[in-house]
Amino acid sequence: MKKNVFINKSIPLFCFDSLDSTMNEIKKKQYNVYEEVVVIANKQTQGRGRRNNNWVSDEGNLYLSIRLKKKIYKNHHFITYMIGIVMYEIIKEYVSKPIKTIIKWPNDILIDNKKVSGILVEFLSYGSIIKDTIIGIGVNINNNPKKIKKPSTYLKKYCNYTIENLELTKSILQEVDNWIEVLNNNKRLLLKEWMKRSVKLNSKIKFHYNDRIVSGIYKGISKDGSIEVLMENKKNNFFNLELI
Ligand code: BTN
Repeated sequence: MKKNVFINKSIPLFCFDSLDSTMNEIKKKQYNVYEEVVVIANKQTQGRGRRNNNWVSDEGNLYLSIRLKKKIYKNHHFITYMIGIVMYEIIKEYVSKPIKTIIKWPNDILIDNKKVSGILVEFLSYGSIIKDTIIGIGVNINNNPKKIKKPSTYLKKYCNYTIENLELTKSILQEVDNWIEVLNNNKRLLLKEWMKRSVKLNSKIKFHYNDRIVSGIYKGISKDGSIEVLMENKKNNFFNLELI
């Protein structure tokens, strides 16, 4: 069942009981007409995450995709950092208890070192020109997947009031609007703000590397958007790294 609500005069929001994935739905032709459009589902049967992982999508959580046309006109590949900041700010609002919230590279949101939200960014391109940007966001609100390797949690555990999907969606869109300005105009500031919300510089991090698990010292994000890691006294830059 599909229901059409308007977030404000210009942003239509389509709500579904069940979809394979909000990412697939929002790419359909009928949404081409909108400058900005949002799709949410109560559950997904084929939710997907980064690195071809599944995103377990049982009822009770938020599954959302946003499709943006012209709003982003520069720095598309830094959107991953922008949306990380957005979700950090949103989640932090809901966490009533004094528990640490951080962004884990590139854009997972962790509460108490457990993942509560994941983000997937995809582009619709015409040749090398990016036409539309699609941001997929999953937030564990009332439950978290049990059978996954990495520790996860859900937002309700840290929050004293009911969390409404529609309210949460509206706040996300508002925060996206605030940060798009920074994405388009000040890449340096964006990275600085991202780093403030992530682990401390010089922390030890562990990751998969050449089929092994290795550790290194986190040295921040370079201006090209890569993560900088010191390994055996040598600086390495990665665009694609699976942190443990
Ligand atoms: C990750 O951390 O691996 C990213 C997870 C992204 C999940 C969201 S849920 C809404 C949207 N639809 C999907 O199929 N995936 C994204």
